[in-house]
Amino acid sequence: MKVLGIVAGRHNGNSEILVKEALLACQEAGAECKLINLFDYHIEHCTGCESCTMQMGDVAMGKGTYKGCVLKDKDDMDRIVNEMQTCNGIIVGVPTYDLTPSSLYLKFAQRFLAYELSFRLEIGEVKEDPHMVGGLIAVGGSCHDWQTLALEGMGATMFTQSISVVDQMMATRNGRPGNVLLRDEQIQRAHKMGENIVKAIQTPVEERGWLGDPDMGMCPRCHSSLIYKGDVHWDGIQFPFECAVCGAGGDLVKDENGEYRFVLAENGLIRDRNVNAARAEHLNEIIKTRIEFMQNMDTVKEKYAKYKNLKFPAI
Ligand SMILES: Cc1cc2nc3c(=O)[nH]c(=O)nc-3n(C[C@H](O)[C@H](O)[C@H](O)COP(=O)(O)O)c2cc1C
Repeated sequence: MKVLGIVAGRHNGNSEILVKEALLACQEAGAECKLINLFDYHIEHCTGCESCTMQMGDVAMGKGTYKGCVLKDKDDMDRIVNEMQTCNGIIVGVPTYDLTPSSLYLKFAQRFLAYELSFRLEIGEVKEDPHMVGGLIAVGGSCHDWQTLALEGMGATMFTQSISVVDQMMATRNGRPGNVLLRDEQIQRAHKMGENIVKAIQTPVEERGWLGDPDMGMCPRCHSSLIYKGDVHWDGIQFPFECAVCGAGGDLVKDENGEYRFVLAENGLIRDRNVNAARAEHLNEIIKTRIEFMQNMDTVKEKYAKYKNLKFPAI
């Protein structure tokens, strides 16, 4: 069992303390544990060059070999992800800034695309599927009302790594570094997360499931709290309501206690981003968008001139 802790908070800060406590439980159960604080690494921003996805498309069509991210030799990302993809468990602790995961974490996670695990396994760049399970810890100074996009934002970064999130917690009302040391229940909950991660790793892959608080969130699939009114998808699919994180579709139904529940539609998991086949369908959308663009290059070129030549003073 290998478990990696990833922290995006201050050194000796609240996120780091909680991740350390969770790792302690893993270590006690015999796991080999490592911990990184993203502040200690050089991580470049994804430039949006799309070189990775263009290459992936080419490889899928039997053209060329995959060279990976263009930033591969420019920072520590390659080293971190290569290590991560040998781990069976990941525990991520991220401070909440402006309701969302901190930008340092997002900068890190938005580089995952070039390292999509299912693709790397397919082309043999990663030899063995680590079947990663994940535990997410969002840490904020306030309650849920000021951390509304925190766990959801972290959850959204898990799909490209095929990480199955089995537990998550929101640590509330922690401001100054060490504040969480006054909150025994949060420390204990982090310890429990470590135990849950080990439990999940020791469970056969096909039998793994949610080990977090049963009532957490609205979505029965990923336990996010963000359910929104569904719109028509690119191919005409529509659900009355959808989970903003995993994409599960269903409806809001009042139960016998008068409480709203999000009930999955019969085909509610066809857009479940946790499922490789559903993500492949998304790839279809991307490919179709790209083809339409390529077929209309003349029009684009013509309209482009106006904007390329238009200049405003910068600061
Ligand atoms: C720029 C900034 C924005 C913040 N925004 C929020 C917020 O929207 N909600 C919240 O609950 N806490 C917010 N906080 C508080 C931090 O989440 C809190 O101090 C947390 O304990 C930091 O984690 P760390 O000790 O691991 O660095 C903010 C802090 C900073 C520096």
